[in-house]
Amino acid sequence: MRGTSVIPAKPLYEGKAKSVYASENPDELIVVFRNDMTAFNGVKHDQFTDKGRLNATASEFFMKMLEAEGIPTHHIRMSAPDTMIVRRLEMIPLEVIVRNVAAGSMTKKYPVKEGMVLDRPVVTIDYKDDERGDPMINDDLIEVLHILTADELRKVKEMALHVNKVLTRFFDKCGIRLVDFKLEFGKADGTIYLGDEISMDSMRLWDKKTGESFDKDVYRFDKGDVIAAYRNVLKRIIPDSGV
Ligand SMILES: Nc1ncnc2c1ncn2[C@@H]1O[C@H](COP(=O)(O)OP(=O)(O)OP(=O)(O)O)[C@@H](O)[C@H]1O
Ligand SMILES: [Mg+2]
Repeated sequence: MRGTSVIPAKPLYEGKAKSVYASENPDELIVVFRNDMTAFNGVKHDQFTDKGRLNATASEFFMKMLEAEGIPTHHIRMSAPDTMIVRRLEMIPLEVIVRNVAAGSMTKKYPVKEGMVLDRPVVTIDYKDDERGDPMINDDLIEVLHILTADELRKVKEMALHVNKVLTRFFDKCGIRLVDFKLEFGKADGTIYLGDEISMDSMRLWDKKTGESFDKDVYRFDKGDVIAAYRNVLKRIIPDSGV
């Protein structure tokens, strides 16, 4: 028993940072944000007290914000501080990445320096498959491999750019630059929903003034106390959250 939901003994799926359980309601799932932190496709792995709760709190906050802006999300309610009840989706195996500033893999793959502000937001899409190293995929392949129709892909990109607009505007007011982020989408009853998470694990966030990282790069590159960085984000976005 956890909050108001009964969590089965065995998860349906145990990911690298979250565990997904069936719920009594067949249209819903229980997502527990764990304290596990991984990087470089699981090569680096640690556990940090509070990490699950911090990411779950941020994710709930942003999903609610996006719903209010007309973007359908899987979020239904929280049953515990680290546990989100979500709409069960048929996940689309794509990682939809929106970039505002060059960083991370972009600077490895292309001749662009970290920190360069892009002329406009750029959407890049990876095929979500750890064993294949999440290769980048293009529009033609997405259609030909029957992952999405052209119309659905257009919709997904439009939603991703809408999310970017809402989040960029919000973070800017908090003194944070939204460098890039990753989204996952899924389908239920013919509708495309935003699924998974929007957290410090899935975004790159830099202090507007100092350029300091407040995201998983702190862990990836041993830049300091990752939990202090995550907490810092929550303090800025939800000043009364008491984290
Ligand atoms: N509403 C939803 N319905 C069904 N599955 C979902 C929903 N939201 C997220 N998921 C899936 O639940 C899993 C969450 O686990 P997690 O993110 O830890 O694992 P992962 O994606 O395998 O690993 P990583 O994200 O670290 O590469 C993912 O497979 C994600 O696609
Ligand atoms: Mg994931």
